[in-house]
Amino acid sequence: MPIISTSGLTHVYGENTPFKVAAINDISIEIGKGEFVGIIGHTGSGKSTLIQHLNGILKPSAGKVFLEGKDIWENKKSVRQARFKVGLCFQYPEYQLFEESVYKDIAFGPKNMGLSEKEIDKRVVQAAEYVGLAASLLEKSPFDLSGGEKRRAAIAGVMAMQPAVLILDEPTAGLDPRGRDKILNLIKDYRESTGSTVVLVSHSMEDVAKYVQRVLVVRNSRLEMQGSIKDIYSKGELLKDMGLDVPQITKVFEILQGKGLDVRGDIFTLEEGFNELLKFFGKEVSV
Ligand SMILES: Nc1ncnc2c1ncn2[C@@H]1O[C@H](COP(=O)(O)OP(=O)(O)OP(=O)(O)O)[C@@H](O)[C@H]1O
Ligand SMILES: [Mg+2]
Repeated sequence: MPIISTSGLTHVYGENTPFKVAAINDISIEIGKGEFVGIIGHTGSGKSTLIQHLNGILKPSAGKVFLEGKDIWENKKSVRQARFKVGLCFQYPEYQLFEESVYKDIAFGPKNMGLSEKEIDKRVVQAAEYVGLAASLLEKSPFDLSGGEKRRAAIAGVMAMQPAVLILDEPTAGLDPRGRDKILNLIKDYRESTGSTVVLVSHSMEDVAKYVQRVLVVRNSRLEMQGSIKDIYSKGELLKDMGLDVPQITKVFEILQGKGLDVRGDIFTLEEGFNELLKFFGKEVSV
């Protein structure tokens, strides 16, 4: 049984207004336990709206969301459960950080879960340490943190709830490449050590290729396609049509292939590219 699934999920913003818009339309997906899934799509395609349904932050206009096979909107208790079991890190960390100290922000989720003070403290300290936030930052106002630290604090707040599913909406937006890698590696390690399911929404086709096992592509509020990185990234023209693009490294290898070099055309990350070149030069040397 998938850990999360949706059927015919639809969300209309501004229902009875002239601005009425179906931000997601008839989306049915399944996410397996322990899976690392990526969601890609052009700006405004509906990614954030979709994931905000998975933990009951948004209520569907039509369709259903199931957590471990159970409709999360069945009753008050089930939707509360969904909020704790499915941790959502918002696209803009400012939406999530509002307490007077970083400590209180990270403690917010565990506190709502009704945990003891001692357990809350343990989790806050652990989560802060895990994401690499120095203890000295815990008493600071979240608004005094740098962009990268804010991201870390928001992620720590979600991790402190120890959710079975961790959803991250553009967790690396605005960070430099090193900051990006640090956060994504942290998420990868977290998933590997806890067995959690992770859903990553990202504009970066390269980040998605590097970390996820399966990709969902959203276009104009609908699920356009889904599949492995190879399946999806080999549809270069279709992606371009959607305002998405294959990673730069993929293009480099397409050019090399076009020039007659005997290299693979399905290279989607720098690491794969590097290994392919090593192999290629190895071949050259041995000739
Ligand atoms: N609170 C809201 N009220 C009204 N319309 C909204 C609201 N949030 C999003 N929308 C609209 O719904 C559509 C989908 O938006 P959404 O934020 O889900 O897209 P997205 O794929 O996450 O975009 P981005 O890549 O820019 O984050 C867009 O047309 C957007 O303008
Ligand atoms: Mg978004």
